[in-house]
Amino acid sequence: MDKRAGLYIVVEGNDGTGKSTQVALLADEYLRGGYEVCIVEEPGSDDPEKSTPAANELRRLIKNGDLERAPEINLGLFSAARGEIWREKIKPALDRGAIVLSARNYYSSLAYQGRGEGMDEAEIIRMTRLFTDEHYMQPDVAVILTLSDAARAERIAMRGELKNPDTFESRGDDFQTRVNQAYIDIARQYNIPTIDAGGTVEEVRVAIWEYVARPAA
Ligand code: TYD
Repeated sequence: MDKRAGLYIVVEGNDGTGKSTQVALLADEYLRGGYEVCIVEEPGSDDPEKSTPAANELRRLIKNGDLERAPEINLGLFSAARGEIWREKIKPALDRGAIVLSARNYYSSLAYQGRGEGMDEAEIIRMTRLFTDEHYMQPDVAVILTLSDAARAERIAMRGELKNPDTFESRGDDFQTRVNQAYIDIARQYNIPTIDAGGTVEEVRVAIWEYVARPAA
């Protein structure tokens, strides 16, 4: 692989599918290979290094489940956060030739705001285009981690997150089922490989590496 050519790699999937764990493992592989690595998380992160100050402020608002918002407003907030992260973190890193590893991309909005909250796919694409560009919308590599509804619910419960659920975790089972199905449909429609996140961390890591090490032309 040409060490000067930046690579934008996206790991997608519903909450509880293990995106952050796998992104961290991918980062280790690339760092060992001598690459500069930049990790980002949409719509922001508890780790300020993985986001920007403005995106993190937006995320704080987004995650406040007490603030009721229309789907259009959510799309605006997520789009603003992703625009920030794209301009301020991802693009400069790609220009330096770094490997960018991202937990989530606009496929999350297609799943949550689209199929979860009922927004039109074309509107989401239009909005995303306004805030980002074609490279963002066509990452060099993307994979979607999938889990059955039951396995996902079990994992989320084990993490104890339901004691203090945020905006989307507090939505009913029906919402979660729609988001899960959306990811399967998005994978098919956008030709993105799915990986069963029900395996061990190591099994999932190996499966992802197959796609990442040999990105489709
Ligand atoms: P995230 O920060 O990934 O959650 P956490 O850090 O708690 O795992 O995302 C917050 C929530 O926002 C999560 O439930 C997924 C949802 N989300 C959307 O609805 N649309 C989007 O475009 C993105 C990026 C996330």
